[in-house]
Amino acid sequence: MKSRDFCKGCRRLSGRYAMICCIMLFISLPIFPFVLVGHIVVAEWRVKNEPHVNKFAPVVLAEFTDQVFSATRESDTRDTGNMSYLTVMFSGGLGNRMFQYASLTCIAHHNKMQGHLPQGCILPEVFNIPNSELALSESIFSRPGINYPKFLEKSSYIWDKRTLRLNPKLNIELLGYFQSWKYFHSCKHKVRRQLSFKTDVVKAANMYLTQAANKAGEARPTFVSIHVRRGDITQVPHIAELGYTTATRQYFLNSMEYFKSRHKNIVFVVCSNDIKWSRENLSNNNNSIYFVDSGRDEVDLCILSRCNHSIISTGSYGWWGAWLASGEVTYYKHFPKPGSPLHKSFNPWDYFLPEWIGLD
Ligand SMILES: *[C@@H]1O[C@H](CO)[C@@H](O)[C@H](O)[C@H]1NC(C)=O
Ligand SMILES: *[C@@H]1O[C@H](CO)[C@@H](O)[C@H](O)[C@H]1NC(C)=O
Ligand SMILES: *[C@@H]1O[C@H](CO)[C@@H](O)[C@H](O)[C@H]1NC(C)=O
Ligand SMILES: *[C@@H]1O[C@H](CO)[C@@H](O)[C@H](O)[C@H]1NC(C)=O
Repeated sequence: MKSRDFCKGCRRLSGRYAMICCIMLFISLPIFPFVLVGHIVVAEWRVKNEPHVNKFAPVVLAEFTDQVFSATRESDTRDTGNMSYLTVMFSGGLGNRMFQYASLTCIAHHNKMQGHLPQGCILPEVFNIPNSELALSESIFSRPGINYPKFLEKSSYIWDKRTLRLNPKLNIELLGYFQSWKYFHSCKHKVRRQLSFKTDVVKAANMYLTQAANKAGEARPTFVSIHVRRGDITQVPHIAELGYTTATRQYFLNSMEYFKSRHKNIVFVVCSNDIKWSRENLSNNNNSIYFVDSGRDEVDLCILSRCNHSIISTGSYGWWGAWLASGEVTYYKHFPKPGSPLHKSFNPWDYFLPEWIGLD
């Protein structure tokens, strides 16, 4: 902004009042786009929520995120002494929130900021997240009248490297799904520790695994989980049109064969949001497959995380079951649907771990 030229022009035009007016206008100019664009981005992001595709005009993003990277505006950092806060706006289901939490933790660490979970987040009810990461008694990001700078990720399934250089002098709120292992690869041990399940969840999960082993008559089973993600993907046409797919019956059979060829004493443990379809399509007239019907998302996820190996279909929930289990993993190759809007904002190398195996 050429400030001198602008004010010289003003002075020539009129007297003292115009000059004051001009100065005030000049002072407030840099704030306007910041506040306005901030509101637009947050409002749009809140509305869109599901499905997980960013639809914002690149122009808005560029203008907006400049604030986050430049050191021109310093927000209130007194609460953490010399460290500023980083938070994330949670959205979606458990799997989405885990991506957001894991990324928040590691991005904050990388930028020497203090990670801050918003109040009302369900994760502390499921996991032993340390107190230091929990919402403070007074949520700094919900003070009325203060607009904190936002960082909006470019795309839901592509690692956005700009998170490596946030301005550590600002309190910043992250907006997006952050669905890439690359966001938290450098702190994976810390993330794993913090995403340890609460005792009652572990107890419930172990009960199902014991039942599965008993039914199969295996004293030393190798548990292979199968997560069958269906539900909304098969029911809501709009979601399928975006490019969400469900894995086929043949994919699950191929994956089961893959593990049978590599391990002995296998007990397959199936979790799904469509357990009926799973029973009807995956039963093998044989006791080595067990269908979990716990009715609790966190218990199912804990079961997936405690299995030795994982067969996943699509969606972030199964992804997390496999990541936490950290055994061998097969995933469904045809997600997202080729040529779909989702496919265009998807990088398989950022989403799937390099050692995971894609099958048909
Ligand atoms: C904040 O202060 C502590 C101790 O005074 C120091 O170790 C740390 O590096 C400082 N952090 C930043 C981001 O300046
Ligand atoms: C899966 O089971 C349902 C219900 O029995 C059946 O209609 C469908 O054809 C099966 N799908 C496959 C791929 O076999
Ligand atoms: C039952 O399934 C297991 C593992 O999938 C397999 O090894 C075994 O041969 C099957 N038994 C029968 C009778 O089909
Ligand atoms: C398989 O998982 C079970 C339950 O988590 C565990 O007790 C067992 O040691 C694992 N087996 C192998 C071979 O890793």
